[in-house]
Amino acid sequence: AAGYGTRLLPATKSQPKEILPLIDKPVIHYAADEVVRSGIREIVIVTSAGKTAIEDYFDRSRDVEDYLARKGDLEKLELVRSVSKMADFAYVRQPDARGLADAVNTARPLVRDEPFVVLLPDDVILGDPPATRQLIECYESFGAGVVAVEEVPAMEVSSYGIVDGERVDDRVTRLRRLVEKPRVDEAPSRLGIVGRYLLTPAIWSAIDRLEPGYGGELQITDALQTVAREDALYAYRFQGTRHDTGRPLTALIAAISVGLQRPDIGPGLREFLRDLDLDAET
Ligand code: G1P
Repeated sequence: AAGYGTRLLPATKSQPKEILPLIDKPVIHYAADEVVRSGIREIVIVTSAGKTAIEDYFDRSRDVEDYLARKGDLEKLELVRSVSKMADFAYVRQPDARGLADAVNTARPLVRDEPFVVLLPDDVILGDPPATRQLIECYESFGAGVVAVEEVPAMEVSSYGIVDGERVDDRVTRLRRLVEKPRVDEAPSRLGIVGRYLLTPAIWSAIDRLEPGYGGELQITDALQTVAREDALYAYRFQGTRHDTGRPLTALIAAISVGLQRPDIGPGLREFLRDLDLDAET
């Protein structure tokens, strides 16, 4: 959560994009919820200057709690308390925006020599089992790192890390090539990495040897190319729906999709959408 969120300016001018709501929860809450539902209790968040709202969100909010307790609103009180009890949170800061591999590397002293999962919180993935759980199960079967992938439209391959390799089964590919944001005519496939990675300690020495890549930044995709070559790495076509909340149109689509599934607001939203006179609106 250390990026600038420039695609959502000016909203992100004075607040982290991870705190912008998807309906009534900050975007990053969905990522925390996903890992917790996948059996993970320890969360390290990589932040940067101006992002303390994230720490405050996952901390206790004594004033709000006292106010709700005084009012006797026990339901909301429990809701507020449950956020700070979701998991054990730790924070590290990335001083310079030097790329995703550098962001992951700032968490290294806390993660150390254990497998771990990286989530880019602006990709909200809805599904059961959660995408992170699916990666853990793939790791348990193959004993190597796994990246979550999905087929992306040709026009969009240059926005993703694109991977290719040998198909193991319907969902699993053993990776040979990973290219960060290739041109469409140079892309090895249409399989794009989404914001979920299960990494093993093999990533650390690959990051140590990394040279700046796409955009002059240290790219995790390039470090993973080394892991695929020297160790092993798999791609997993996860089940579930991914929403990119980091751009205006897709963020709005995410809100509508999530809203339609919510029992409290879904019926009202459905009615509103059904009654829309689209011709009159344009
Ligand atoms: C990052 C990764 C890219 C991946 C994408 C998924 O790019 O570098 O390989 O496909 O996340 O969301 P970003 O979107 O941060 O530019």
